[in-house]
Amino acid sequence: MKLPVTTEIDQELCNGCGLCVTICPSETLSLIDGKARVTGDHSMHCDHCAAICPTGAVTVHSVDRDALKLVTVKNNDTWIEYGNFDAASLVQLMRSRRSCRTFSDEPVKNNILEDLVKIGTTAPSGTNSQLWTFTILPNRAVVEKLGNAIARFFLRLNKIAQNPFMRFFSKLFMKDALGIYYREYYESVKKGLKEREETCRDRLFHGAPAVIIVGMNPGASCPSEDALLASQNILFAAHAMGFGTCLIGFAVEAMKRDPRIKKMLGIPDDESVYAVIAVGKTKTQYARLAGRKKVTPRYYTG
Ligand SMILES: Cc1cc2nc3c(=O)[nH]c(=O)nc-3n(C[C@H](O)[C@H](O)[C@H](O)COP(=O)(O)O)c2cc1C
Repeated sequence: MKLPVTTEIDQELCNGCGLCVTICPSETLSLIDGKARVTGDHSMHCDHCAAICPTGAVTVHSVDRDALKLVTVKNNDTWIEYGNFDAASLVQLMRSRRSCRTFSDEPVKNNILEDLVKIGTTAPSGTNSQLWTFTILPNRAVVEKLGNAIARFFLRLNKIAQNPFMRFFSKLFMKDALGIYYREYYESVKKGLKEREETCRDRLFHGAPAVIIVGMNPGASCPSEDALLASQNILFAAHAMGFGTCLIGFAVEAMKRDPRIKKMLGIPDDESVYAVIAVGKTKTQYARLAGRKKVTPRYYTG
């Protein structure tokens, strides 16, 4: 996506160091007669030129630094130098995040949810498109409403999947999608739906008092990556801010397949949903970190 240039260089302030020219990924700037000048016809609006300029001569007008000002977390505009951070704490935070399935019903304030969204947008995005969208469900009543719509979707799906003729048809024409669903999920979904009906137990959102839905507007070069990187930011930040999170893949699946659910939430038809994140205070405290399967990286040395 080629975006018009919104970069301006204050020729009085420019000291001609050329840092903005070397850092620019889209050849928007050149050094002419000892001064940086806008010579390209498009820009990625990444703001690297303004961030690197030692004299503050560069402004990218399409970028709004205030858009990242948080209300509930103290932060400032200082850039942390490479290596000048406590990596141990960062890794400890990453390892401590767990999918929460025991949310308390304590509400999450809107300004916290909005700060989480802003933190989400600090993620990288393909060609800096930032075409993500965020839909906040700020209270338990609306989370339950979404849960009911998703439950209706899975009731219908289970009805279709339990029909052997439909599974045969799916094997012929749909790469056995229905058969795979039937073997992997049908029974547990059936159990969850029954429990929901009989005991009101919320196995879908685990009782979460709020949800953030991460979607993408059309036109992004790498939509799933962009949305999931933003989501990951939200998960880590939420943990640091005292909240549990859980990605709800079942909700994503239902919203992808049943356009009525997006419509109910006011999400435009051309937006795609990539992540549904349950958020809230958690009732669980862990005694230690969890493990992971061991991975052995492969080297290619030529
Ligand atoms: C794409 C995706 C979808 C997921 N969907 C669900 C879900 O629908 N319900 C749920 O309880 N957990 C869901 N999870 C959470 C995983 O089960 C969890 O990440 C995994 O067991 C590892 O545990 P951890 O997140 O505590 O490290 C999902 C995770 C991912 C990445």
